[in-house]
Amino acid sequence: MSGFTAPHCGSLRAADVGREVELYGWVARRRDHGGLIFIDLRDRWGAVQVVFNPAQAQEAHATASELRSEYVVRVRGMIGRRPQGSENPRMATGEIEVTASELEVISVAKTPPFQIEDEVDADEATRLKYRYLDLRRPRMQRMLEMRHRVVNAMHRYMDANEFVEVETPMLLKGTPEGSRDFIVPSRLHPGNFFALPQSPQQLKQLLMVAGVGRYYQIARCLRDEDLRADRVVEITQLDVEMSFCTEEDVFALIEGLWVQVWNEVLGTQITTPLPRLDVQQSLLRYGTDKPDLRYELDIADVSDALRETNATIFRAALAEGGVVRCLAVPGGRDMSRRELDELALIAKGAGAKGLAWLPGPLDKHMAEGELAAIRSAARAGEDDLVLLVADRRRKAETVMGLLRREVARRRKLIREGEWKFTWIYPMYLFEEDDQGKLTYGHHPFTSPWPQDMHLIDTQPYAVRARAYDCVVNGLEIAGGSIRIHDRALQERVFEILGMSRERIHEQFGHLLDAFEYGVPPHGGIASGIDRLMMAMTGTDNIRDVVPFPKTQSHQDLMLGAPSPADPELLKELHIQVVPPDKPAR
Ligand code: AMO
Repeated sequence: MSGFTAPHCGSLRAADVGREVELYGWVARRRDHGGLIFIDLRDRWGAVQVVFNPAQAQEAHATASELRSEYVVRVRGMIGRRPQGSENPRMATGEIEVTASELEVISVAKTPPFQIEDEVDADEATRLKYRYLDLRRPRMQRMLEMRHRVVNAMHRYMDANEFVEVETPMLLKGTPEGSRDFIVPSRLHPGNFFALPQSPQQLKQLLMVAGVGRYYQIARCLRDEDLRADRVVEITQLDVEMSFCTEEDVFALIEGLWVQVWNEVLGTQITTPLPRLDVQQSLLRYGTDKPDLRYELDIADVSDALRETNATIFRAALAEGGVVRCLAVPGGRDMSRRELDELALIAKGAGAKGLAWLPGPLDKHMAEGELAAIRSAARAGEDDLVLLVADRRRKAETVMGLLRREVARRRKLIREGEWKFTWIYPMYLFEEDDQGKLTYGHHPFTSPWPQDMHLIDTQPYAVRARAYDCVVNGLEIAGGSIRIHDRALQERVFEILGMSRERIHEQFGHLLDAFEYGVPPHGGIASGIDRLMMAMTGTDNIRDVVPFPKTQSHQDLMLGAPSPADPELLKELHIQVVPPDKPAR
């Protein structure tokens, strides 16, 4: 028995009429009709109708009457045209059917916990527990195939551009990408640990020192971070590095890649060069560094117009060094109070003190000129409502960004089917973390703009970085930078980031030493394939495009992982578990 040479259920067409075939697949559906039994037989390629006629194949018909959904069967039969009027235009095989002469049940199946169909109402936990059944659904099969085609196109594109795939180790020393490391204990060196790669960043830089020149890898990266709808702990990246390059080389390479991938996988033409947007402009106008440009809504700053206002909430925020930002909602004057309260709830959920709107209760506290200035900055027409948020700059940006997205969704302003790519460039070398401490923007290996170097000690936040992200339809699908390749500068950046000499030497000595043996200038980028798949399939749940994803609380519900380790193994590793105060989530 070989399914390999057999024709596929889903790929049979009218041109196959008259062929005798042997098919293998899963019973998708059975219908009994006036003595005839019909089944849809499904495989990865789709489904085909099989007919069992007691007059032609008594034994097969008898067996067919016992069939249930998801049984695995072998069918032998003749392909014929369906009788006129019974064609099914919704099936690719809808013009034909297979009249069975033989039927063998290979495996029986229990009733699955949910229907194996595109539209499934099971909750996500059930789908993840039975992922092998979830993946059997036609939509998920298409996802797996698409993912394969994306990665396959990447391999061919990188090869055609003379990049070499090099595998880097999974057991590493920590490399900072802004997340927590997953660590692995060493048995032979008790008390010592490897870190799983957050990315192959340092290795790919060392490959440049090694003279590889153009490196790529389909790399697994592991980041122990809190999950959101667009994050996974096990990321698959197309990781790229090249020597003697500038930003322009990276942009051209990656733009060519998108052209090829979109064309091959979606049949869509992408126009290049892609637009570029300064990160500060992006934060101001769209409230995010990953703007969705499929709709026009622009945020505006009205701080200057409101410095003297009698509206206390605005004046107070401005006096504390904050900002006032506004956004016009097209046709928004018809919004109900309930809808406005829902928007206010979103704003508060993101940490805003509140949400104001015009026309609204605050109007009477504001001068005519102030109201006019706001309407003009927001470019609000007669029928438009203006939303206003007063807060610290970063908070105001985040809140306005969320409101912009929500307004676009509610008002149906998103032009579905469009591909709005942009580079976010330039970005900044440093940013403030949640505690207000200075941290790196992209990662600590990123090169500053040479012309901003004089600001590095006095105004570090003003130093631009040779770093870039690529965004499509509001998703960051790639990020990278031109690197520092000078030992002294790299040490200085580490020091500005608050690292002691000892720690720099201990953690990054290998990289700094390598820079002393003939280092080419180099730069690169990594694209998150999971994110890319989200964009290409239009899902907002990253787990829909990952074959075997973990839950938001980092569990594999199918395998039941994580789970306690064998005490013997722990003993060998010299590890003792201190039970947590609180039970795990
Ligand atoms: P960065 O951390 O920006 O850069 O990651 C590159 C791209 O990987 C994807 N990505 C993720 N996707 C899903 N879940 C996550 N948790 C996640 N984190 C990142 C995004 C992102 O743009 N070493 C650098 C690259 C470089 O500088 O060359 C790096 O990893 O699409």
